Amino acid sequence: MATLEIRDLHVSVDAETGPREILKGVDLTVKQGETHAIMGPNGSGKSTLAYSLAGHPKYTVTSGSVLLDGENVLEMSVDERAKAGVFLAMQYPVEVPGVSVSNFLRTAATAVRGEAPKLRLWVKEVKEAMAALQMDPAFAERNVNEGFSGGEKKRHEILQLELLKPKIAILDETDSGLDVDALRIVSEGINRVRSTGEVGTLLVTHYTRILRYIKPDYVHVFAGGRIVESGGAELADKLENEGYEAYVKGGASE
Ligand SMILES: Nc1ncnc2c1ncn2[C@@H]1O[C@H](COP(=O)(O)OP(=O)(O)OP(=O)(O)O)[C@@H](O)[C@H]1O
Ligand SMILES: [Mg+2]
Repeated sequence: MATLEIRDLHVSVDAETGPREILKGVDLTVKQGETHAIMGPNGSGKSTLAYSLAGHPKYTVTSGSVLLDGENVLEMSVDERAKAGVFLAMQYPVEVPGVSVSNFLRTAATAVRGEAPKLRLWVKEVKEAMAALQMDPAFAERNVNEGFSGGEKKRHEILQLELLKPKIAILDETDSGLDVDALRIVSEGINRVRSTGEVGTLLVTHYTRILRYIKPDYVHVFAGGRIVESGGAELADKLENEGYEAYVKGGASE
């Protein structure tokens, strides 16, 4: 059973005025098979946590640890993290001009699986995954995210999730900008991956509507660069009704 253990994680970014600490002691344990929702005000550091776990060079870990099954994730390169089973669906997926979706996915799958998937089986796998997400097969030949609508980008992230089958999936606002049908289709995709029991999911979201499709085992309130409260699914309803004022005023913010 894979376990991601984040302990007292502090992370800074280089701001114009010098280094600025964004994460101020994050503690979180995610096990394979569990789903954790992270909710919190804008600017509280949720995406910073997601990027830091994936190894984005913009973020500097100043102290704390991240272990995946006891292995030090912070010492791994971005590629090694992906290969170890850490997957990030970005809040704002980037365009990759000149690289088709189909080539991109095959390269990613080759890197993660350690060998190139057999072409015929691979084509079938991609076709089925795209059909399940109701994506037009023509997308396979388009350049990654170039000219994709917001919702199309999010579906493409979930397509990667389904094909790469990570141990730990970090989904940063995968629900934002989706119409009602797309929200259901994307949620069903996440649930398919979840139902294998082989992925631990970290779902960053602002809205409880996605949590109607994807029942979290735990909900965490993220404020001021750390987790300030944790509870069960009912905590999400409380947040929707009452907002974050209590947590921000309570000195959790800067
Ligand atoms: N290069 C930078 N210089 C200064 N501040 C930065 C830099 N990069 C990030 N930050 C700040 O870090 C804070 C955390 O940002 P982050 O994107 O992690 O928040 P978030 O919780 O994901 O917010 P949202 O809900 O809006 O997506 C923000 O206040 C942001 O302005
Ligand atoms: Mg964010």
